[in-house]
Amino acid sequence: MIRVCFVCLGNICRSPTAEGVMQHLVSQQHLEDQITAESAGTAAYHVGELSDVRSREEALRRGVRLESRARQFQAADFGRFDYVLAMDAANFSDLARLTADPEERAKLSLLRSHSPGNSDSLDVPDPYYGDDNGFARVYDICEDACRELLRQIAEKHGLG
Ligand code: 4NP
Repeated sequence: MIRVCFVCLGNICRSPTAEGVMQHLVSQQHLEDQITAESAGTAAYHVGELSDVRSREEALRRGVRLESRARQFQAADFGRFDYVLAMDAANFSDLARLTADPEERAKLSLLRSHSPGNSDSLDVPDPYYGDDNGFARVYDICEDACRELLRQIAEKHGLG
């Protein structure tokens, strides 16, 4: 089983969206027995909460139900996951600080570094204080990046 964890700041907007998108793609490709997706936050502000209602509504419009509850990423999670995907550069450096082990560090990447032909920023923009458009944009970015990430993982591990 390949285990993937998406990580943002609060674990209520961006990373649960990426988790839901990835689970949706995985099930469309009948890879549920080979790859799992979870999410976490670098901060603890929202631990135990459902995702932001704006994220859940946007995902539902696309046919995806977000059901996870927020939790904080722990250093030990580097041992549990094969891929740790940071949503932005701040999340990346906060995560990198949690481990000095080169094998664990190698599991860490920016989600958008997997997007094809991405000439934009490598950050998934934080939508929390913005308008509802930001949530549609986050969904679109997660969909593009997760599609390519899944393709890369499937190729590397000979899945499917
Ligand atoms: P997320 O968005 O990191 O995409 O879940 C945020 C959620 C909450 C806060 C900031 C960003 N906050 O400051 O509470």
